[in-house]
Amino acid sequence: MTDDFITNLPKAELHLHIEGSLEPELMFALAERNKVAIPFKSVEDVRAAYSFTNLQTFLDIYYAGAAVLKTEEDFHDLALAYFDRVAQDGVVHAEIFFDPQTHTHRGIPFDVVANGLFAGIDAARAKHGMSIGLIMSYLRHLDEEDAFRTFEQAQPWLDQMIGVGLDSSEMGHPPSKFARVFEASAEAGLLLCAHAGEEGPPAYIHEALDILRVDRIDHGNRALEDPVLVARLAREAMTLTVCPLSNVALRNVDRIEDHPIDRMLDLGLRATIHSDDPAYFGGYIGENYRQTARARNLSRGQIVTLARNSFLGSFLDDEAIAGHL
Ligand code: HPA
Ligand code: ZN
Repeated sequence: MTDDFITNLPKAELHLHIEGSLEPELMFALAERNKVAIPFKSVEDVRAAYSFTNLQTFLDIYYAGAAVLKTEEDFHDLALAYFDRVAQDGVVHAEIFFDPQTHTHRGIPFDVVANGLFAGIDAARAKHGMSIGLIMSYLRHLDEEDAFRTFEQAQPWLDQMIGVGLDSSEMGHPPSKFARVFEASAEAGLLLCAHAGEEGPPAYIHEALDILRVDRIDHGNRALEDPVLVARLAREAMTLTVCPLSNVALRNVDRIEDHPIDRMLDLGLRATIHSDDPAYFGGYIGENYRQTARARNLSRGQIVTLARNSFLGSFLDDEAIAGHL
């Protein structure tokens, strides 16, 4: 049966915001533990609020939810809950984003966030035998100076991180706004990725490639509007970390039945399937594969290609990648 085939297929998660894995149950538990008031009466009440019309309507709720995260223990619990969940989805390698500025801007020290997340990551490595990398994502609605301050705060942690990313409100915040901090991050030995073409135009994907010089594009859906860009992405074997349930929840794709994932593969793009913010968009990585496979009638060959692409697009070294293929 295809569902079991998908679950048992080893895969890498490359596009996951750890703050977006905060389930309403844990949000309530942490609100109580930390005496933080949240504007919801029940877990059902929280879920009922998860109806989005675009990226910004989601981000407003996602940043509000993060307010319950205060201590190292909270970040540890958040991370371990995520890894416990996806160990059941066949995830053997994960590269996860965190948004330090979401926390430092509300008075939580960078070191509290990093200590907590690494404690959760270490626990998950030991418990599940997964390989795990952490990617620090800059918030693009803030200015580059703020990203530089974050890069400075991260200095003691950089040798434990694998890369930097760029997320939050895309429209009006092109990749070029972060050219210098990405250059500094690359010089520090970090690999680079950026959200581009989720809501923003193909020009933002061009900028991510040409100005930021990214190793991977997060989302990238709107590349499909630009045939020259598609040809380039295919030629350069640039990985696109596509998130089908996110695309539907944020109305970038009308229905999962209309999702272009198989069109991307047919065009020769190195597309992969990921979950983005599973607590908010209705499913973890396995559910993203299952619903997309069903709705698009994907063949086993296509499903295997998507999982293979997740390792090819990972930040593992060549030897480790070869071990997963
Ligand atoms: N897009 C941009 N920023 C984000 C997202 C997303 O899907 N999730 C969390 N931050
Ligand atoms: Zn994302």
